[in-house]
Amino acid sequence: MTPSFISIEGGEGAGKSTSIEYIKGKIESFGIECLVTREPGGTPMAEDIRQLLLQHRDEVVDPYTELLLMFASRRQHVENVIRPALASGKWVICDRFTDASFAYQGFGRGLDKDFITSLKHFVHGDLNPTMTFLFDLDIEIGMARAGKRANFDRIETEAMSFFERVRQGYLTQARAEPDRYRIVDASQSIEAVQHQLDLFLTPLLTLRGLANE
Ligand SMILES: Nc1ncnc2c1ncn2[C@@H]1O[C@H](COP(=O)(O)OP(=O)(O)OP(=O)(O)O)[C@@H](O)[C@H]1O
Ligand SMILES: [Mg+2]
Repeated sequence: MTPSFISIEGGEGAGKSTSIEYIKGKIESFGIECLVTREPGGTPMAEDIRQLLLQHRDEVVDPYTELLLMFASRRQHVENVIRPALASGKWVICDRFTDASFAYQGFGRGLDKDFITSLKHFVHGDLNPTMTFLFDLDIEIGMARAGKRANFDRIETEAMSFFERVRQGYLTQARAEPDRYRIVDASQSIEAVQHQLDLFLTPLLTLRGLANE
């Protein structure tokens, strides 16, 4: 069996967390064990780093400090959770991964993308998602959806222009790697989004089943 590493990307309120259990259920219905995890976070220590990153503070947070903390939590997560799960034959579904560092810190904050690429190679080398769902949504709709939740975290309080750069950054990455990316029109109803996910996942899972027969 070829274990698969699926990442879910997209802006605030696009519906990533809502759909992740659906994706897990769909994959498990084909008899594959799945681990759902998220970034930043995914291990106790990495979740502590998430808190460091997302809490509001009086002090200015240097964007490279933010980037390095993202990759510190990622290294912990990759080594302690993602690699062992894949090695045991599970599929891993991760709510955000390194493409988010390019979208938010690279495109959003304007940090050096070559440096982010070096960090990516150093931190997780050959381990990259085999499929990435990009939940693409107008940022105002996403914010309105997310606004129904409790308080906004530190990154969620950025200006709309920041989130527009993030959205365009994701679309740029998706266009550069069309084989890995599946773009989901996240403006549709939850049921219609699930239908799009089915159209992407069913052929993949069916082929895998046939290959294993
Ligand atoms: N397709 C949809 N149509 C309408 N509302 C939706 C849809 N998908 C999710 N929602 C609602 O929008 C809100 C945000 O969804 P969710 O938390 O899944 O987004 P997210 O992409 O995980 O956001 P974040 O990046 O902030 O974690 C939730 O209240 C959810 O119920
Ligand atoms: Mg979420």
